[in-house]
Amino acid sequence: SRRALHRFTDVLIIGSGVAGLRAANSVDPHLSVLVVTKDSLRESNSTYAQGGIAGVLDPDDRFEHHINDTLAAGGNLCNQAIVDMVIRQAPQRISELVRWGTDFDRENGDWALGREGGHSQERIVHARGDATGAEIMRAIIARTRAMPHIDIWENAFTVDLLTHEGRCRGAVIVGMDGRPQMVWAKETILCTGGVGQVFRESTNPSVATGDGTSLAYRAGVELRDMEFIQFHPTVLYIAGSSRSLISEAVRGEGAHLVDVTGQRFMSQYDSRAELAPRDVVSQSIIRQMAATKHPSVYLDLSHLDADRVMNRFPGIAHTCSTFGLDITRDRIPVRPGAHYMIGGVTVDRQGLTSMPGLWAAGESTSSGLHGANRLASNSLLEGLVYGAHAGEAASRAAQEEGSKMVALPIRHSAHESNESFDVADVRVSLKSLMGRLAGVERDAGGLQEAADSISSFAAYVMRHQFDSVEGWELQNLLTTAACIVNASLARTESRGVHFRIDHPEPDDENWRRHLTIQINVNAG
Ligand code: SIN
Repeated sequence: SRRALHRFTDVLIIGSGVAGLRAANSVDPHLSVLVVTKDSLRESNSTYAQGGIAGVLDPDDRFEHHINDTLAAGGNLCNQAIVDMVIRQAPQRISELVRWGTDFDRENGDWALGREGGHSQERIVHARGDATGAEIMRAIIARTRAMPHIDIWENAFTVDLLTHEGRCRGAVIVGMDGRPQMVWAKETILCTGGVGQVFRESTNPSVATGDGTSLAYRAGVELRDMEFIQFHPTVLYIAGSSRSLISEAVRGEGAHLVDVTGQRFMSQYDSRAELAPRDVVSQSIIRQMAATKHPSVYLDLSHLDADRVMNRFPGIAHTCSTFGLDITRDRIPVRPGAHYMIGGVTVDRQGLTSMPGLWAAGESTSSGLHGANRLASNSLLEGLVYGAHAGEAASRAAQEEGSKMVALPIRHSAHESNESFDVADVRVSLKSLMGRLAGVERDAGGLQEAADSISSFAAYVMRHQFDSVEGWELQNLLTTAACIVNASLARTESRGVHFRIDHPEPDDENWRRHLTIQINVNAG
């Protein structure tokens, strides 16, 4: 039967990347925690992170330098107090991961520190060469599974938040058996990660469909900065390959970017050349591809020490070898792809959203750390810091609430529709139009065309009553895409990762501010 089941927990955590699991580990062990994730525990953007975690660990480095690098990348939109708080916590969060069993790479007894674009020095810890995210997740998953008060549901999709009188009360979750479960929680933490699947070219796994952003939006929670999508400059570009990330740490080790004719070109665009911040490198690559009329540029590592390359980047070497490329000799074809959602659910320093009872942490949020452009390897750090804060704060709030919890009556307001259409086909069309019209370079005409197409898809997709993950994900992708496009149209200037060809300069007078989006759920 499809009858709804009810379930009660003190703290519900939606999503199981670094932010979600760090949050789970902050909740008082006397409380019950339920972590739900729509795939397996390890399937998240965190797991695929290559570069690492930035933190001041070298005695010659200074918090002020890491702070200044973060602010400089952020295009005058970072919240200084938040940057300061997060950067100063980095060493402690990294040591905590070490205590929990993460095995970061060392060199002569010290941390082996890597470098990436926008950092004024080497400060990025990594693990197993380029498998940093996988190693961190291995350790944090093992720790979380060992905690008797933390329950984990895998393959359980969160369809919507449960809200009552303006407060979050949990979520509707559908597990593998297809039955909806009403999970009533004293406090709920959203840690649902990124949105890369909105775009055709992306470094993100197929699970990154903007679920948290969309369910928060539908519930009337405030979103912020949705126009700021970071494109990673170097995504492997081979027909038929998954669009794998080629870590920026490769350029940090000295790899060159060359065009189809073999010429290095970055110094024509920026004096920091290959190690300029990502927005600059992505925009330069797009221009060089246009100038050479070629669909990619190339990473060239052939001048670097081959043994060191193989030791430092075993994962990338393996991926490329499956396409017949030897990264110590052959050039790697790359182009920019969607990588990181800078905007998301607005949170305060504790991770509280605009809705009481709802907290959020990690990529699904807009905390003020990244401004208009995220500095490389600051995002696992943000997930750890905010995961810890949101977990602690939600834990305290749940304790204060006492023991009473009741199931509330459910008002069901879905629109039935019998139209049949090909969900996978709409998803592909959306991804390709977003890549074409809302990518690294944008203008009003293209964005308006994207907005019109999204509305025409939404007219039939949003009315449909789905009972499959594919359908719900498509609705979330459309909601996320609409937020991205509307915010990108509204911001008539260029700042950080948001580059408008028709407004190529920053406009500090009008736009040194955030753009928020929020629907009034009580209207109509
Ligand atoms: C990379 O390895 O290039 C990604 C690092 C990041 O996105 O922070």
